[in-house]
Amino acid sequence: MAMLEVSHLEKHFGETEVLKDINFSLEKGQSLAIIGSSGSGKTTLLRCLNFLESPDSGTIHVDGQLLLDGGVKTKTSDREVRKKRLRFGLVFQNFNLFPQYTALENVMLASQLLARERPDYKQRKKEIFAEIRANAENLLAQVGLKDRMGNYPDQLSGGQQQRVAIARALALKPDILCFDEPTSALDPELTGEVLKVIRALAEQHMTMIIVTHEMAFARDVADEIIFMDGGVIVERGPAHQVIEHPREERTRHFLAHYSAS
Ligand SMILES: Nc1ncnc2c1ncn2[C@@H]1O[C@H](COP(=O)(O)OP(=O)(O)O)[C@@H](O)[C@H]1O
Ligand SMILES: [Mg+2]
Repeated sequence: MAMLEVSHLEKHFGETEVLKDINFSLEKGQSLAIIGSSGSGKTTLLRCLNFLESPDSGTIHVDGQLLLDGGVKTKTSDREVRKKRLRFGLVFQNFNLFPQYTALENVMLASQLLARERPDYKQRKKEIFAEIRANAENLLAQVGLKDRMGNYPDQLSGGQQQRVAIARALALKPDILCFDEPTSALDPELTGEVLKVIRALAEQHMTMIIVTHEMAFARDVADEIIFMDGGVIVERGPAHQVIEHPREERTRHFLAHYSAS
């Protein structure tokens, strides 16, 4: 059974058809890169998967469980949406850290809010806090920020901020971690440290969807690549094949603007 199964996903904004009959699946432990020019619908797709946008129709299954049925307009309580959202993590292009919180607090925050819903929260408050803190510290160490936990976002470089954002996304133990152009807001000398963290996650078989313009990275790290254009999946295949021997003319045309070296 696939970890993620997306079927017939459609999304309009007014007259614009942004996603047209999107179908794909993703196995547990696989990483999938999504490439395509600006405006092709990549961000909208990630936002639909993360419940930040509701699709007009189509379904999303995670681990065989129906998470979302775009055709059925049910009133879903906030709590329910939050629970479903937890299956996915999202790392944004512009980090989106809370500026008033330290790196450690940014990573701990969502777990702390969630912990309040636990039935044993009142009795085990201190213990739970200590667990959340230890988990956040481990994650920050894992992304190479052991010495930066007490820093505020504006005291960190873009690359460091993005690594905090990755640790924050991991803190909620998502089944599928999504990245929306995680390095495109960074100076070129800082992209390497972020890509290294994502590469390590791929090696640990984190299930991931990575929207990126880093073609060499996509080729080397992703198992498979999807090329999107105009709201449709034009081509999907093994990463090396799509980058080096694309089947479709539109993919070749797009890749001609990049040199994956
Ligand atoms: N909230 C929105 N309202 C109206 N149009 C939108 C909205 N978000 C995205 N779009 C449009 O949807 C299309 C796809 O956008 P997007 O998903 O951001 O593409 P990409 O991430 O591939 O650049 C674009 O034409 C964009 O202008
Ligand atoms: Mg985008």
